[in-house]
This record gives sequence, structure tokens and C-alpha cells, in this order.
Amino acid sequence: MLQVSDLTVGYHRDDAVLREVCLDLTAVAVHAIVGPNGAGKSTLLHTLAGHLRPTAGTVWCEGRDVTRWRPHQAARTGVALAPQGRRLWPSLTVAEHLTVTRPARHRPGSTFSVDELLEVFPALAGRLHHHGHQLSGGEQQMLTIARALHTAPRLLLADEPTEGLAPTVARQVTAVLQQLPQRGATVLVTLPHVRAAAALTDTVHVLTTGHLSHPVTASDGQAERLLRDHLTLTNPHAE
Ligand SMILES: Nc1ncnc2c1ncn2[C@@H]1O[C@H](COP(=O)(O)OP(=O)(O)OP(=O)(O)O)[C@@H](O)[C@H]1O
Ligand SMILES: [Mg+2]
Repeated sequence: MLQVSDLTVGYHRDDAVLREVCLDLTAVAVHAIVGPNGAGKSTLLHTLAGHLRPTAGTVWCEGRDVTRWRPHQAARTGVALAPQGRRLWPSLTVAEHLTVTRPARHRPGSTFSVDELLEVFPALAGRLHHHGHQLSGGEQQMLTIARALHTAPRLLLADEPTEGLAPTVARQVTAVLQQLPQRGATVLVTLPHVRAAAALTDTVHVLTTGHLSHPVTASDGQAERLLRDHLTLTNPHAE
């Protein structure tokens, strides 16, 4: 759905966090980015969702230049961000989180009904009238993903979606993300390890200090090698 060319983004003038990043998200598939802490994974997802303004480069959406779009424009086009760190609305209940984000029309493929979401995340079913801040960390994480799925995204930006989840729930989340392309939605997911990404897709991008690699194969060790080379370069005394 999106094509990113030579994107440079930073929080301060002359201090780029992402440098000339290129990424092709036109295939309806799961696209994964792995990289160490601070590499810029969240920065990239926030930029694509319209929360940050690039200093250079272009983001194309089906031939349209959307480099400087706002979050509501990205959302209207079908881009949903499930942010890292469970950013819920503290004054809304679980049920309200899932009803305030109404599914967009004309996107029947990736629509998840509330019932379906509660099947995927049964822990939320017993918490429908609890407020965001009354949920456990894992429950908040589930609700963050459920809220994004309920908007029937064409592109789901999932920032470390399995962080802090018990292995069984993490596997459920992985299974839902894997199904999304069959429902017509593209996924861009960030993960801390190649192993976690390999469970979702065999082709991953490696992000190291703002530089994004071409897609590399996860299963044959290419991605691990890129990460290891980077760590050796930045910390030559590491084992
Ligand atoms: N709001 C901000 N203001 C200034 N600098 C920021 C801000 N958010 C992130 N940064 C910096 O940008 C860089 C990339 O951060 P980012 O959160 O994108 O990394 P990440 O790859 O998502 O890391 P993690 O794996 O820890 O989530 C880091 O050096 C970070 O300190
Ligand atoms: Mg992050």
C-alpha cells in the first residue's frame, strides 16, 4: 500500500534518527523489521502513521505523495497504528475502546467484529467494563492490538505487538497477524529478534541506527549476521 523512498526523520534539526530509508509495502503481505533498541523502529512506524514529519524523502500511497499527511488522514486511508507501550485511553472502558473506533466502510476483508476480537483475546471478554488503567500489562497490549484491528485496517503498523505477552497469547497475536493478508490487509510489524520475525515471515528488514537493509531471509541466518555485524561494529569489545 505504501512505498517509502529515501526517508530521513529526526526529532531535532541536524540529528536524523532514520537515514534515507527505502521500503516497499505494495505487496499485501507481512513485512517485518527487526533491530536493536533505539534503532528507530517506532520512529518509522510513527512517521508512516503521520505523527512525525520527515525532513527528506517521500512516502507514496498508491501513487499519491502522502509524506506530510496527518494522523487522521492516514487513519482515514486505512493505516492503523498499534503503538508500543499500550497507549490506551485511560477514561474509556474496554468495550468503549472497541466501539469508539468504528470499522471503516468498504473494507470488509480485514473487518474484525467485537465478537471475533473477544474470541482472539478471551481475557478481554471478562474485562469489558474495566477502564484501560485497570488492566494488566498483557491485557492492555491485547486491547491495543484489538483496537487497531477493529478499524479494519488496510495497513496495520504493529510496533512490537508481542512485547510482554505470555507465550500462548503471543502465539495468538502472531496467528492473527499472519491471517491479515488473506483478509486483504498488509502488516508492517517491528520485532526485537529475528526469531520472532521468522515465525511470521521469511523476509525481514534489519534496522540498525537508522539504516534499513534490503529484505533479507530470516531462516538462513542472513538477518542474524547483519545484526551481529552491526553489534560488533558499534561495540568491538562485545563477545
Ligand atoms: N520523542 C522523542 N524525542 C527525542 N528523541 C526520541 C524520541 N523518541 C525516540 N527518540 C530517539 O530516537 C531514537 C530511536 O528511537 P525509537 O523509539 O524509534 O527506537 P526503537 O527502535 O523503537 O527502540 P525500542 O526497541 O527500544 O523500542 C533513539 O535514540 C531515541 O532516543
Ligand atoms: Mg520502539
